[in-house]
Amino acid sequence: MQITQLNLPATMIDLGVGQPDPTLLPLALIRQAADHRLRQGDPSLLQYGTESGNGYFRRELARFLSSGYGVAVDPDRLFITAGATSGLDLVCNRFTKPGNTVFVEEPTYFLALRLFADRGLNVIGLPTDQNGLVVEALEEKLAETRPAFLYTVPTFHNPSGVTLTASRREHLVRLSEQYGFYVVADEVYHLLAYTTAPPPPMVSCDASGTVISLGSFSKILAPGLRLGWIQTAPDIIHRLTRSGLLLSGGGMNPFTSAVVQSAIELGLQQKHLSRLIHIYRQRSADLEAALHEHLSGSATFKNPGGGFFYWLRLPNDIDATALRKEAKKRGANFQPGINFSAAAGLRNYMRLCFVYYDSDRLREGVRRLATVIP
Ligand SMILES: Cc1ncc(COP(=O)(O)O)c(C=O)c1O
Repeated sequence: MQITQLNLPATMIDLGVGQPDPTLLPLALIRQAADHRLRQGDPSLLQYGTESGNGYFRRELARFLSSGYGVAVDPDRLFITAGATSGLDLVCNRFTKPGNTVFVEEPTYFLALRLFADRGLNVIGLPTDQNGLVVEALEEKLAETRPAFLYTVPTFHNPSGVTLTASRREHLVRLSEQYGFYVVADEVYHLLAYTTAPPPPMVSCDASGTVISLGSFSKILAPGLRLGWIQTAPDIIHRLTRSGLLLSGGGMNPFTSAVVQSAIELGLQQKHLSRLIHIYRQRSADLEAALHEHLSGSATFKNPGGGFFYWLRLPNDIDATALRKEAKKRGANFQPGINFSAAAGLRNYMRLCFVYYDSDRLREGVRRLATVIP
């Protein structure tokens, strides 16, 4: 019987998997936090919750984020979600209609493309470079098309690893004010910085309420909690709370929120995050060393400085999807670039994740991949 989303043969090293290593999922931490919360004898955590999320939890989350972001976060600008995916879907629900256009980066997070397709949205990809979205290209595009929103992963991008520079962030927000569209900033990797401190989150450049920032506990605690947040202007939060989903079901995940509130109050969340950063920094370095050892002649790549991924560029005439068939026969796998394209491009790219496996498996995975890359 299958119980998690993944069902991998034990012999396969799938560097395409973008999930936390099961051995790093914090079972004891969650037990301690749940015990702390349940001992308080307050049954309200089992009641329908207030639509924007429990105020005490939002206050605690704001404290945690203010310290992690290095910028003050206002609890009244937080709205609790069942993860970044649910936040993004709710934004589509409340701020788009089928047939509307949304802009994305090329490459972009592949499952966001699925979500936009589910909502009947028309997706246009915009170019990126080593500094993230090319904002000048966006400006040109805005002369002909006005999107409902632009979706960006500004920090430690999935899949490319790049981080949008501070000046581009400001320029992007200015354009959103000038042309009247929202910037939906998926900032789920922001707190996972290993060698490079990113600029402040997108949402902190937002003077007039055009940025909707998505955050999540999936990458810093556990995806199975299905817990995240949106940080944005109060009028946008008000509009989110007026959805049928919230009016009928109440705020999202009040029980989990209460447990995670204890995890933050007890300092357990911060301790866990520091441990993840320590481990992922080493894994990133080990994957990179293996890439230099085995693939330096055929692939180009850049240290992402944080997040989960390396993005490899192969020679133009190589189709990563075709390589994948051969790689699987040798017990290795990855995500081909085409999956991250809004226009069926990026065929000569591949995404590798360095958090799911330990360093020995990462090295062995790269060694196996190198046997199929010319
Ligand atoms: C950019 C990005 N957004 C969202 C998600 C999913 O987040 P959540 O588990 O909070 O829905 C992921 C997970 O891979 C991701 O990489």
